[in-house]
Amino acid sequence: MDELLVVRGLAVRFAALRDISFTLERGRTLALVGPSGAGKSTLARCIAGFETPSAGEILLHGRPVPPTARSRVQLIFQQPAASLNPRFTAAEILEEPLLIQRRDRQGAAARAMDLAGLPAGSLGRRAHEFSGGERQRLAIARALVLEPEVLILDESFAGLDWRLQEQIAALLRGLRERLGLASILIAHDLDFAAALAHTLAVMQAGTIVEQGPVAAVMAAPNHALTRELIAAARALSLDGAP
Ligand SMILES: Nc1ncnc2c1ncn2[C@@H]1O[C@H](COP(=O)(O)OP(=O)(O)OP(=O)(O)O)[C@@H](O)[C@H]1O
Ligand SMILES: [Mg+2]
Repeated sequence: MDELLVVRGLAVRFAALRDISFTLERGRTLALVGPSGAGKSTLARCIAGFETPSAGEILLHGRPVPPTARSRVQLIFQQPAASLNPRFTAAEILEEPLLIQRRDRQGAAARAMDLAGLPAGSLGRRAHEFSGGERQRLAIARALVLEPEVLILDESFAGLDWRLQEQIAALLRGLRERLGLASILIAHDLDFAAALAHTLAVMQAGTIVEQGPVAAVMAAPNHALTRELIAAARALSLDGAP
């Protein structure tokens, strides 16, 4: 088993995160679900190196991630499209992280566009000239340009219509297969996250109250919150039925 990312006994004092442990393998997706304020984004920021935990460890390939290798874990924020400067061209947006990292820019932007399913011919268009869904893809392309091993999507699907959600889901599945990309998918929508993920972790008040393979947890949830989330997802899907 290829344990790519290991989080062990992680704690963050200000967010009351405690004893967070899980492992993530290459090409696998972990769905992280739980109510608002549970600490999901704080955990994501720790793994991406934007926050320093007060205890515990984060290991990539069995070793702590040095500051110079932070780009191996990329985080896409809660509102990815809003984080793009509308006046910048796609090429400028995609080359900026490479400039900062002093990496070779030759062809990298075009490759990232291709991976995200955007036409390389639109590299010269400005961010505001793309549709909302295309901007979402552009945000993903920007995260991919540094060739990360782990991609964290923090509610990056929220607010997208179902067709766009499906497109982004297909994109993520393709990246897993083609690059072995591992991902952490933070979501409120349990059904959607479960359909895309291999493992599921349910967070409440700063701690993981239940985790395991998606099918096993969904079939036999142990924690009251997990049962509640499953019931809520069912009610929603019944609401949406024709
Ligand atoms: N920089 C900070 N300083 C102090 N407290 C913080 C900080 N960031 C988050 N918190 C607190 O940590 C807790 C967890 O917040 P976090 O944003 O991680 O939750 P979340 O699970 O992502 O919620 P949501 O689903 O609403 O995005 C909250 O109580 C929040 O108020
Ligand atoms: Mg959050």
